[in-house]
Amino acid sequence: MSISLSDFVHGLPKAELHLHIEGTLEPELMFELAARNGVRLPYADIEAVRRAYDFSNLQEFLDLYYAGAQVLQTQRDFHDLAMAYFRRLHADGGVHAEIFFDPQTHTERGIPFAVVVEGLLSAIAEAQATLGLSCGLILSFLRHLSEEHAFATWREAEPWLDAFVGVGLDSSEVGHPPSKFARVFEEARQRGLKVLAHAGEEGPPAYVREALDVLHVDRIDHGNRALEDAELTARLVREGMTLTVCPLSNLKLCVVSDLRDHPMKKMLALGLSATINSDDPAYFGGYLLDNYVATARAVGLSREDLIQLARNSFTGSFLPHGEIDRRLAQIDAYAAQHPHGWEA
Ligand code: HPA
Ligand code: ZN
Repeated sequence: MSISLSDFVHGLPKAELHLHIEGTLEPELMFELAARNGVRLPYADIEAVRRAYDFSNLQEFLDLYYAGAQVLQTQRDFHDLAMAYFRRLHADGGVHAEIFFDPQTHTERGIPFAVVVEGLLSAIAEAQATLGLSCGLILSFLRHLSEEHAFATWREAEPWLDAFVGVGLDSSEVGHPPSKFARVFEEARQRGLKVLAHAGEEGPPAYVREALDVLHVDRIDHGNRALEDAELTARLVREGMTLTVCPLSNLKLCVVSDLRDHPMKKMLALGLSATINSDDPAYFGGYLLDNYVATARAVGLSREDLIQLARNSFTGSFLPHGEIDRRLAQIDAYAAQHPHGWEA
């Protein structure tokens, strides 16, 4: 029986390792929450929101992403937001996710830290119980704010530290190098949390080096621009560093001008532990499955490439070793069942 590329990827067990929960706010839910909370939106209708999603760089996106997040006010809002994402991940054949949330986006406008976290945690519990998904939560600091602000957030997070798998670093990259947050990341590492940073999306290879040498990251989010530096690339290969790459995000934010120019095929050929992820799917036009399929078509990923990507999504995850081995065995079994991949 022959299957399509989309069916093949759908059936492949896979994890999503780079996803901002605020970036899953679809315009429909944005309007629903605006009505529920009495928030006025600067858009006439859902189509007007979608038309506004035409970005030429990271900052243009971030401005709308932070504005959209204003409709999120109650614990139930955060719960509903996350459940909508989990249902979508499940529909795409995803089985595990490690998701970022940006507490400062919410505490800055007076939403208590507890409201955000408890809403997300209740959705994670529901997704586990009803969809069989596992999910880790990553507290991400906004790098355009000060180190002091990050520390204040870190202190607010104290009662929930056991609920997080790691800390991350996102928002406007250029001008805000990883070293700005060396001390708060050191504290997080001391507390046993994993450490991640967005680096090399718009920022130079030097920022990727800082993420490695100063923050001692466990994963690099994006990492595209590391390829400009052969020595750095060789090091990432040697160290088996996972890169959480987001192809449709790269296209929408003009990190690549055409998906056919995306470096994913090259990354895999070089032996980099690259993964495919959706980043902010409500803004970038595609969830996890769409990212795999669009990239496979654009750059010609093979059956072996796709299997490698699925494997990388677990070996790069923060799941317990036994769970990673179990998922890798599932991928092997799936690969054996589909020796010829898909029908073109
Ligand atoms: N880059 C930086 N910050 C972000 C992103 C991104 O792709 N998405 C949400 N915050
Ligand atoms: Zn991101």
